[in-house]
Amino acid sequence: MESKQAHSKTMTLHLKVWRQKSPHEPGKLVDYDLEHVNPDMSFLEMLDILNQKLILKGEEPVAFEHDCREGICGSCSMVIDGNPHGPQKSTTACQLHMRHYHDGQTIVIEPFRAKAFPVIKDLVVDRSSFDRIIQAGGFISVNTGSAPDGNATPIAKENADLAFDAATCIGCGACVAACRNGAAMLFVSAKVSQLSLLPQGQAERSERVVKMVYQMDSEDFGGCTNMGSCAGACPKDISLENIARLNREFMKSMISGRKSYPNRKGGATEGSPA
Ligand code: FES
Repeated sequence: MESKQAHSKTMTLHLKVWRQKSPHEPGKLVDYDLEHVNPDMSFLEMLDILNQKLILKGEEPVAFEHDCREGICGSCSMVIDGNPHGPQKSTTACQLHMRHYHDGQTIVIEPFRAKAFPVIKDLVVDRSSFDRIIQAGGFISVNTGSAPDGNATPIAKENADLAFDAATCIGCGACVAACRNGAAMLFVSAKVSQLSLLPQGQAERSERVVKMVYQMDSEDFGGCTNMGSCAGACPKDISLENIARLNREFMKSMISGRKSYPNRKGGATEGSPA
């Protein structure tokens, strides 16, 4: 009863929100006081209330990305008080609830900051660099025919578990936003790991890792220096072990000589991307 009463109390929050009209215009933090915030609201619902208020005042609402609001799609990418997706571990911004804040608190909300993720508007950034990495090799191009029966392809339990863990990456980009170098190694390693651990991913295994790493290097991502901030900020707890696996996969592919690493002019060079 006591907690129900506590939760029914609303809060007033002081928001500092990054407003930027377009990629070519400078942005700035704008102050908003938001009253009647229910602690049971999600963070995005709180932003919805802010936007309703702005629309009623005839002002431009804050642009922010969202889709599933269930922690699945990876759309709700924003930096809250300096943390990609906010201060709660293993939690996307859409799954963050206002009960973790107190009346009168100031919250700073910014877009993901990375050269490879340029701001489009307010809190929305362009993450199509991730799409291009997936297009470079994050798929299986064999003709699989109709849907196979479940368990028709035996997979070792350990590999199935590791592949599933890697597959939980939602491609939100928090790893890039948390990295001081703006590196995308955790994302790429999760995608490479998922396919390299499964029988279906073996046919293109050697080429896939080189193509994806090359595309990653062609975008504006920084190099990995093993700081681990990426894994700490990941809302899906993707492990750094995937980065170790990516490096092994890359080295094996290069040593086998089955794939050369192209240089920026399209020729071939030997050498590691990192
Ligand atoms: S809106 Fe889909 S993960 Fe947050």
